[in-house]
Parts: sequence; structure tokens; C-alpha cells
Amino acid sequence: MKILEPNLENLKLAGEELKNGKLVVIPTETVYGLGADALNPTAVANIFAAKKRPFFDPLIVHIADRETLEKIAIIEGEKAEKMIKAFWPGPITMIFKKKEIVPDIVTSGLESVAVRMPANKFALEVIRNSTGAVAAPSANPFGYLSPTTAQHVIEQLGDSVDYIVDGGKCEVGVESTVIDMTKEIPVVLRPGGLDPYLIEEVIGEIEIFDRTTLNPTAPGQLPNHYAPRIPLEIVDDWKGKEIVKNSGYLSFEFPEGKLPFDAVEILSPCGSLVEAAANLFEALHRLDKSGVKKIYAQRVPDMGIGKAVNDRLYKASKK
Ligand code: TXA
Ligand code: MG
Repeated sequence: MKILEPNLENLKLAGEELKNGKLVVIPTETVYGLGADALNPTAVANIFAAKKRPFFDPLIVHIADRETLEKIAIIEGEKAEKMIKAFWPGPITMIFKKKEIVPDIVTSGLESVAVRMPANKFALEVIRNSTGAVAAPSANPFGYLSPTTAQHVIEQLGDSVDYIVDGGKCEVGVESTVIDMTKEIPVVLRPGGLDPYLIEEVIGEIEIFDRTTLNPTAPGQLPNHYAPRIPLEIVDDWKGKEIVKNSGYLSFEFPEGKLPFDAVEILSPCGSLVEAAANLFEALHRLDKSGVKKIYAQRVPDMGIGKAVNDRLYKASKK
């Protein structure tokens, strides 16, 4: 495995190596992605092997231009056009009908394909230097916390990838919002970096998938995703709770008073949800490695990107 500083030469190399069928980890504004040429089924199969990810979980294809979008997906209707114009590049993945050229292994045999244009200049440059279509799930072992720094990827996937482009810390810090655009009324399948409220402002009514449904259509909806190795419990207020010995606390804001914990992580001292999202996975990685036996995580206000943070905490608590 080779770590690449994001200079022009290396970004070219990364794109070329994707064309050669290699696994290249790219930084995006949400989390790091484990990339392979989306049009090369063998390369894509290696993603599943490196992540130990089941084949029924389809991948997002990352693109850098409209031309590639037209090549892989059928874009129908005004809503789709409005969404693309308003939010790409950005932390939103859109599901469209797929075209023949997309291999089944990318979509798990579905008739649809998930597509995203990431808002990260290094990622876009790598994609432009590749075939133009890069399949990439989050660069973590299946079910574990997503990586928001190159260091996380090195620790978690190490030598099972060929290159890691080190683009620093991810700005948004939680995965993209996933929306199914093949439905008359589009359905948000996974809360994420883009607030559904902003989507409604652009295209009107949308549906939000309810996590209590028993038949998930996007495996990101499975409850035991994004989990640390140690148990996590969500609390609104740790006071009045019986706190087990040797535990850690994930606090939303700057906590008051003396805390009965051996490790504390503060997501945003000033109480910003955007900052909290950006720090979420990093803080959980640190707590997971700190030696504590259990994490108490404070629920954050359930609005805007806070919904995505609470969703990830909920899933982490279900392991
Ligand atoms: O922010 C992100 O979305 C990151 C970065 C790397 O772009 N990627 C990411 O990928 O989170 P992944 O594979 O961890 O999550 C992709 C989600 C999964 O929940 C998958 O089930 C869903 O998208 N998905 C992919 N294709 C789909 C399809 N055709 N229909 C429904 N859901 C789909
Ligand atoms: Mg993932």
C-alpha cells in the first residue's frame, strides 16, 4: 500500500491505476471512499473482498461530469434535473435507472444505480483521470465506523488496498444522503450530509424512509452499521443513569460539571451540529481505541445534519 500526497502528479497516477484495475482510496467531503473502476467487474469484486462486504450491498458510482452520468444512468424528469443542478457536487447520492454498461456487481443486480459527484477537488481530479466512473463504498471494514482521515484507512484496511490519497480530514464527516429518484415522489433512504429540508425546498414533497421498516432496500438501513467494537448506549442525559466503570462519554456540547468517565470526547464545544457531524467518526474511533469498556453517547438535537448524526449513533448502539 502506498500513501499519496494529493499533488497533480499523484492524482494522475491514482486515476491511471484505477484504470489498471487497482484499489485506490480517495478522500471525499463526507468520508474516505474505497475506489475501483466501476466499469471493471474484477476490480469491483476486489472492493468487496477488501471490505469483507456482502455482495447484496450495492455501491455508489462517483463521477465528475454530466457526460459520464448519461453513460451510466437514465435521467428522467424535471425533479432529477433540479436536484443535479442544486446539489452536485455535494454530499447527496441519487438513485436512477441504470444503463447496460454498469456491471451487475456494482448494483447487486438491481435495475438502478446510485450516483454521486463528490465535492472534493482531489477526488474529482482522480475521477477525471480514471475512466470517469469510480465505484466506492466507505473505506472501512463492513459494519465498522467510517473513516474520516487517511490514518483511519491505514489502520483499518492497511495492505488490502493499493493506494490511499491523503486529502486530510473530511469536511462533512458523515456519509451522503441517499435519495431514490426513480420514484414519482423521491424517497430518502439514508439521512446524511445534506439536509432533506433543503431538498424539499428544491423539488417539493419527498418521502423519508422510516428506519423501523423491516424490509430495508438500502443495506445502509440495516441497524448494525457504522458501529464501534465496544458497546454504545445513547443517553439524553447521563446524570441519573447508573454509569458502568471504565466507560467513555461522547458529548455533543461542552459538558458541565465533573464527569464520571475515563475518556471524554466533545463533538462541538459551541454546540454546532455541522461541527459535530464532522467530528463524529473521529471521536468514536478514539473512544473505541481508548481502552474503555462502554461508550455513552449523548443524543444531539434531531434537526438538519443532526438527524444523520443520531442515525449513526442509533446504528452503532444496535450492534
Ligand atoms: O458519502 C458517501 O456516500 C460515501 C462516500 C465514499 O461517497 N460512500 C458510502 O458508500 O457511504 P456505502 O457503500 O458505504 O453506502 C452506500 C449506500 C448503501 O446503503 C447502499 O445500500 C446504498 O447506498 N445503495 C447503493 N446503490 C443502491 C441502489 N441501487 N438502490 C438502493 N440503495 C443503494
Ligand atoms: Mg459504508
